[in-house]
Amino acid sequence: MVDIIERKRDGHALSEEEIRFFVSGYVSGEIPDYQASALAMAIYFRGMDAKETSILTNAMMHSGETIDLSEIDGIKVDKHSTGGVGDKTSLVLGPLVSACGGKVAKMSGRGLGHTGGTLDKMESVPGTKIQRTREEFIKQVNDIGIAIIGQTAQIDPADKKLYALRDVTGTVESIPLIASSIMSKKLAAGSNAILLDVKFGSGAFMKTLERAKELASAMVEIGSHLGRDTRAILTDMDQPLGLAVGNALEVKEAILTLQGKGPRDLVELVKRAGAIMLEQSHIVEDLDEGERRIARAIEDGSGFHKLVEMFQAQGGDVSYLMDPSKFPLAKNIFPVYANRSGNLRRIDSLAIGLSAMKIGAGRATMQDVIDMSAGILLNKKVGDRVNKGDILCYAHTNKSGVGAIIGEIHDAFELSDEPVSVSPIVHAYIR
Ligand code: URA
Repeated sequence: MVDIIERKRDGHALSEEEIRFFVSGYVSGEIPDYQASALAMAIYFRGMDAKETSILTNAMMHSGETIDLSEIDGIKVDKHSTGGVGDKTSLVLGPLVSACGGKVAKMSGRGLGHTGGTLDKMESVPGTKIQRTREEFIKQVNDIGIAIIGQTAQIDPADKKLYALRDVTGTVESIPLIASSIMSKKLAAGSNAILLDVKFGSGAFMKTLERAKELASAMVEIGSHLGRDTRAILTDMDQPLGLAVGNALEVKEAILTLQGKGPRDLVELVKRAGAIMLEQSHIVEDLDEGERRIARAIEDGSGFHKLVEMFQAQGGDVSYLMDPSKFPLAKNIFPVYANRSGNLRRIDSLAIGLSAMKIGAGRATMQDVIDMSAGILLNKKVGDRVNKGDILCYAHTNKSGVGAIIGEIHDAFELSDEPVSVSPIVHAYIR
């Protein structure tokens, strides 16, 4: 292991044997954390070429169970976001793609820090079960065309250990390490086609479009190399997605979006991403037809119906979906006022995500318990005109003494005296 660390430290490419030795030794506990963290730091500074990244991904993917989805007919399509603020896309996109005939067999994660997780959002609907056996998972996708569940403990133990280590050793923001971490899990989860939503901007791992493109290209190359139709879109995190940030608030927004009353950026994203997933599923010939099909599934209510079916199959109390006023509201709903006029140029997603976490919507450590009703509901989006005294957003919380956090939320809104143009949510498409 010392030789491997030194070789990477000195800028050499590691061989397949060396990478496999590291992954198996680290999972079995023979290689201690201090050596693994030294190697992670060497990779952070020296990088890995495409071949090394692909070997690392393969070794991590095979460090645990891989799911065989061959009992589900047709192409299984999965979608993964690199993590955002207000990102409820899966809860809208999954049902829409499935309503158009796609097979969505998806394993999702929980939120940590400023980013939310689909599983937590789903659990805001009482009764919803996200732990399913492999048999239940397959049966549900065969029966209704969609299941979104938690990753089983047996999948990708190498990533679980390595990601936890990277989190506390300053080695998260490395393209080969992120690419191998995400792709090893996605490949182990068994879908034939994968759409990656790579976020960039303040609330994302990749702060610039260029870095996000590098990450997306690395992941598309790994997936394609291993025989999966892998594509990526690059989307903007220079403001939260949609209006709602926080678990039950986001589920309510997902419901509204499936009922044709969604915010512009979220609707645009699900149409573009849905069209790509339908093309990957060989259901449509081109992206224009795909967008039309997704739009129709919103208009005719079949996407919403699919959401209801999915929650029903997973034990959720669907009366909440039919009547979202049943979701409990937080005790305190504080309006946040603008203290000057201007055009809204940017909403710092990182600051909004962290503030939402602090008022109860997220967890700082994996052990924290989430308050499902807490969160932030935006009243203004980038491009809007704001007058002094206007409400920028509402903070929903059961906590008191949150004055300082309200100040931080206020400061996340950047106003400009210049006109502000609104760019499309999808900045690039890589396939
Ligand atoms: N998400 C992951 O799953 N892994 C990373 O390394 C970063 C984001």
